Amino acid sequence: MEIKNLMVTGGCGFIGSNFIQYLLGQGDFTGRIINVDKLTYAGNPDNLEGIEKDYPGRYLFERADICNLERMEEIFSRYGINAVCHFAAESHVDRSIKDPGAFIYTNIVGTFNLLEAARSHAGDFILFHHISTDEVYGSLGKEGLFKETTPYQPTSPYSAAKASSDHLVRAYNKTYGLPVTVSNCSNNYGPYQFPEKLIPLITLNAKEGEKLPVYGDGRNVRDWLYVEDHCDAIWTIMKSGRRGETYNIGGNMEMENIVIVEMICDILDEITGLGSNGPRRNLITFVTDRPGHDRRYAIDFSKLQNELNWSPKESFESGIRKTLSWYLENSEWVGRVKNNEYRSWISEQYTL
Ligand code: NAD
Ligand code: DAU
Repeated sequence: MEIKNLMVTGGCGFIGSNFIQYLLGQGDFTGRIINVDKLTYAGNPDNLEGIEKDYPGRYLFERADICNLERMEEIFSRYGINAVCHFAAESHVDRSIKDPGAFIYTNIVGTFNLLEAARSHAGDFILFHHISTDEVYGSLGKEGLFKETTPYQPTSPYSAAKASSDHLVRAYNKTYGLPVTVSNCSNNYGPYQFPEKLIPLITLNAKEGEKLPVYGDGRNVRDWLYVEDHCDAIWTIMKSGRRGETYNIGGNMEMENIVIVEMICDILDEITGLGSNGPRRNLITFVTDRPGHDRRYAIDFSKLQNELNWSPKESFESGIRKTLSWYLENSEWVGRVKNNEYRSWISEQYTL
């Protein structure tokens, strides 16, 4: 059975919007995408500007909250949804520390609702792909890698809520036989990322000559993956991954935060010339650490590599240059996001 009507949740966010662009460009996907997004502060329809025209009849949008089960059931029935790719989530760790409530509702209850809707359409339903994070595994010391078998030890409200949703997805597979796949990915970067996350925040601050906040000693390590490589991995798993299985996705690109921040400064100095304060590295400011800050993440993605022949294509050096150029060239997008201009437009265009 093929995917005919794919519900993509959170498709106006960073990875979701990149995924929709990616998937509609793939020759081996001929179905329709129904993008279900609440349009929170992180959801921006600008990310998919022109998509209806580029792919006539293949992209539909519903502004809806995944916490509303009745609405999810109705959307499943109306569009004949036969597969889900579930991105929608509250995604920012710092926000989860300040105000965890929305993380519990969206990430846990929202996922539960989608699973229920899928279960009640079980006859035609062929795949629930759940997008998750390496943060569910907790923090590593100097050595070692997260494997699919690493015990869950989430440390922030964000990662605890994501962990809970992963368990629910796997429970629906075991208990009800729902066809599911799960992927746990490392840190993404690339175009359309909301400038609260490290790379776009530092890029835009450095461009404007503002301070560059680095938490703690700046030596925390993340494993970075270019967003298009993540999209490619997701589609690979959706097509060929074994149902009921979990796949780790990573970039084989462990970097300390301070190294990334310095790299961004140097590339911007090179592309645009020095800022008014001289080298942009002068703007680096060490600030109070994030509470419970995980020290190191690193991913073993050999299962995905060996079973499904996937590996990342973009190097960090080329990916970061592409990303910085994108932020420099898309000042209109940046301006609208930074001054919140699109929020009032959303309220005029869409009701929830
Ligand atoms: P994002 O914050 O950029 O986008 C989230 C999207 O979900 C937004 O469009 C938002 O409007 C929507 N949304 C939020 N609450 C909703 C609700 N209740 N109902 C419907 N829509 C809602 O997030 P992202 O960085 O694109 O992450 C997408 C997914 O990938 C998340 O599940 C996240 O946990 C996971 N992930 C992210 C990364 C990363 O580095 N960004 C890495 C691994 C996994
Ligand atoms: O690992 C996957 C996760 O990556 C995803 O599940 C999350 O949705 C995504 O937000 C991301 O989480 P992080 O907390 O790792 O990303 P963030 O960009 O917020 O921070 C990256 C690192 O940089 C982290 O060690 C904290 C640090 N940092 C972050 C910010 C925003 C700073 O030093 N200064 C900052 O201003």
